[in-house]
Amino acid sequence: MIKETEQYVKDFHMGDSSGHDYAHIERVRKMALAIGREEQADLLIVEMAALLHDTVDDKLTDAVTAWTRLENFFDQIELSPDKRNAIKHILKYMSFKGGVNAGKLETLEGKVVQDADRLDAIGAIGIARTFMYAGKFGDIMYDPLIPPRDLEEADYREKTHAINHFYEKLFKLKDLMNTESGRKMAVERHEFMETFITQFKKEWQ
Ligand code: ADP
Ligand code: NI
Repeated sequence: MIKETEQYVKDFHMGDSSGHDYAHIERVRKMALAIGREEQADLLIVEMAALLHDTVDDKLTDAVTAWTRLENFFDQIELSPDKRNAIKHILKYMSFKGGVNAGKLETLEGKVVQDADRLDAIGAIGIARTFMYAGKFGDIMYDPLIPPRDLEEADYREKTHAINHFYEKLFKLKDLMNTESGRKMAVERHEFMETFITQFKKEWQ
């Protein structure tokens, strides 16, 4: 089942240059399994959800079609209704989306996968992914005159600059971690981003 899911996901993320390539999925999978082990979560659900977590994201794909494709895939691998529901719950509620889904993610497995995804959004990798994303979607690198946008109100497709993403999301993630092990790992990555932004602005001047 895992092998087939891996193939499904590789096909989905092939050619991505928005910071959501298959390497992101592999890092999240590895991290989610490590956190999941410590938190004594159901590791099959954790691994399946980590693999599939970005396949229904409306930033990357048409979400309606993606959900149908996913249901068909679940039929094909004969996934039980319980496991199917557990995985779908995680995929539906784990996205940051300016906090609108905050608190809706109810299962331990979901919290574990969300922490792993968040860890890949911060630190050195997080910085690199943010500039990949901005380039891909046509945002500029930085403009100190553009006011910060509020993710809860703004359309996320609205043009902004890459540096803004640190303020609207990345610097908030450290305090949103669900698990103790996730929180610990977030600290170093958060500090690295602060150092990066300080240096970036110094050089900008
Ligand atoms: P989530 O599913 O948790 O909401 P996203 O898929 O929105 O996460 O974001 C994953 C990564 O994509 C972010 O951590 C960031 O690196 C990049 N990203 C998302 N939105 C933006 C943006 N507006 N500007 C720059 N990078 C972004
Ligand atoms: Ni992700």
